Amino acid sequence: MQNSRSSCVAQRDGPSADAVSYADLYAASLADPEAYWLECASRLQWFEEPSRAFEAGVAGTVRWFPDGVLNTAWLCLDAHVDAGRGDEVALIYDSPVTNTIERFTYAELTERVARTAGALRALGVERGDRVVIYMPMVPEAAIAMLACARLGAIHSVVFGGFAARELALRIDDARPKALLTASCGIEFERVIPYKPLIDEAMRLTEAPPAAVVMLQREQAQVDLIEGRDHDWRAFEAAGECVDAVPVAATDPLYILYTSGTTGRPKGVVRDHGGHAVALADSMHSIYGVGPGDVFWAASDVGWVVGHSYIVYGPLLAGCTAVLYEGKPVRTPDAGAFWRVIAQHQVKTFFVAPTAFRAVRKEDPEAALMAAHDLSCLERVFLAGERCDPPTLHWLEDILDRPVIDHWWQTETGWPVCAIPAGVELLDTRAGSAGVPMPGYDLRVLDDEGREKGAEETGHLVLRLPLPPGTLPGVWGDEARFVSAYLERFPGYYHTGDGGYRDDDGYVHVMGRTDDVINVAGHRLSTGEIEEVVAGHPAVAECAVIGVRDEDRGEIPIGLVLLKDGGNSDAATLEAELVARVRADVGAFANFRRALIVERLPKTRSGKILRTALRRLAAGDHFDPPSTIDDPAILPEIAALLQSAGIAPA
Ligand code: COA
Ligand code: AMP
Repeated sequence: MQNSRSSCVAQRDGPSADAVSYADLYAASLADPEAYWLECASRLQWFEEPSRAFEAGVAGTVRWFPDGVLNTAWLCLDAHVDAGRGDEVALIYDSPVTNTIERFTYAELTERVARTAGALRALGVERGDRVVIYMPMVPEAAIAMLACARLGAIHSVVFGGFAARELALRIDDARPKALLTASCGIEFERVIPYKPLIDEAMRLTEAPPAAVVMLQREQAQVDLIEGRDHDWRAFEAAGECVDAVPVAATDPLYILYTSGTTGRPKGVVRDHGGHAVALADSMHSIYGVGPGDVFWAASDVGWVVGHSYIVYGPLLAGCTAVLYEGKPVRTPDAGAFWRVIAQHQVKTFFVAPTAFRAVRKEDPEAALMAAHDLSCLERVFLAGERCDPPTLHWLEDILDRPVIDHWWQTETGWPVCAIPAGVELLDTRAGSAGVPMPGYDLRVLDDEGREKGAEETGHLVLRLPLPPGTLPGVWGDEARFVSAYLERFPGYYHTGDGGYRDDDGYVHVMGRTDDVINVAGHRLSTGEIEEVVAGHPAVAECAVIGVRDEDRGEIPIGLVLLKDGGNSDAATLEAELVARVRADVGAFANFRRALIVERLPKTRSGKILRTALRRLAAGDHFDPPSTIDDPAILPEIAALLQSAGIAPA
């Protein structure tokens, strides 16, 4: 099917309501960022409107709207109730795994959030305190986030698939006053008990919070620990509804830990003001939705997509958000997405390509679509990993609607590149994540920091200052903020992704240039997994690399060197290492293979050449790097990877 679509230029709401093109808007945002973002900010209801756009932050970065005062939860909820929209649906909870569909109006959600905030305050949680949320996809997860925001407390949601050790690491760093959780998650038909993970994390952490609030789910009723645990329902019922606390725009709203190149996750900080301004604008200009529209992001609240586009973005925009506790397949079948879209009249759907790869595998002709009226659906957005053109074309063919790949990261909080459907529906282009969004001055640099031309691949970087909504820092670690993002190319934010701009300015994101991998749209650090593998008593040294996987995009595998005298049986060791990673990182990491090697390729200074290993696993032909100590190792490893069925023969 032809991939191009006719352009249409939309009206922009707000003070500058003239028809604008993408090119005009983008140019204006870079020419005068202060004026551009102050105008966007003026569309929100502030308690005290900012008079200045930004002030200087760390190492060339800025802090947005320094004298503005607001509250994000108030904007998400009370503002809509005050505007007379209290009876409209704010949130639809759709859970095929529990056979539940529940709708919350803006008034109902406001009441539950205000009461939960009151209950948290009764536990001593106040503005600036941290609260860790470790929850499955239930409405209480969103209520917990909004209740923290209402108090000016800082939430840190940890994805429910992470194991106890990862949860403990995040608790160590955030030092929360309370941990909000549930008795279990549900994966397809399988109940995953959370209580043992919580107890183990509380044992492992050096900063156990004084209170654990447990949502008892019907599928797993657990015994509570006296003096530590609170039953969620009693806890919430005893809370007194409290008003939203006015906070500075620069106050942290949340910390979201993400994988970097080391084993220690980085706490990406998000502020209240810049985040609210950017997200509200993105709902309109990128996703083309407004009050009353139904918006569904099929992700998890544990990831940035869940933060921005299951909870905050849709509610800021007055949409109806869908919170889905199910999978693309087997809940009950590969028609699950079509059922939800039709049943709830979803206008804009956002999902990771991996989910559609799973649907396509089970229902290649999309026969299950026929049973559903999808006329409500205007467009689909994809992100989380590079969308392979076959999946994109398949989707375009079966849907006959714009399918928009767009690129962003936990750190940016909202899309860096996209097709701004609410401003101008530019043509999409297979293999490209669209064009840079307003405020993002994207450049492509070579290793020495020189700009590359069109069609030339290099490091994708963003010239400072970054727009509102992007990270103002790393929690409690300014040095790491600078070293991870700002030091490599002074004056630029280093995305860690490589790619190029084509002759028409479309951006093609080709993959990470560091040791971060994307497994089924979930971001993981190979360094994190390496730490766990290296902890096995028989292992002297190891390298974990990402290899291509048809279903999940990428999966990690391990290459391990045994300690002297070690004679572990390969199959036993592999099984032990797989079990170790499942227990310490989580099953979702999909670590299933570990091969014993005699030697690992290294530079003369002793650094493992992971890039060379990745290329061997991909079956690429390449010249050995000049820094390699012993090039003869490469064919040895290539043969091993081939015989293990990892590298193509
Ligand atoms: N809690 C506990 N365990 C989890 C989990 C969670 N939230 N998420 C995944 N797991 C477990 C799975 O149960 C599975 O366990 P197993 O090895 O014992 O069977 C393992 O982690 C691997 O999971 P996954 O890679 O997700 O495979 P799957 O077969 O369970 O599901 C898909 C395949 C395609 C349906 C699923 O990966 C999917 O829905 N992907 C889309 C994810 C997405 O939206 N990502 C975007 C985030 S922005
Ligand atoms: P996360 O921080 O978990 O959202 O992961 C961000 C990373 O996912 C990016 O740095 C990219 O490597 C990858 N990514 C996200 N969206 C895309 C996309 N549309 N195309 C290519 N890679 C993507």
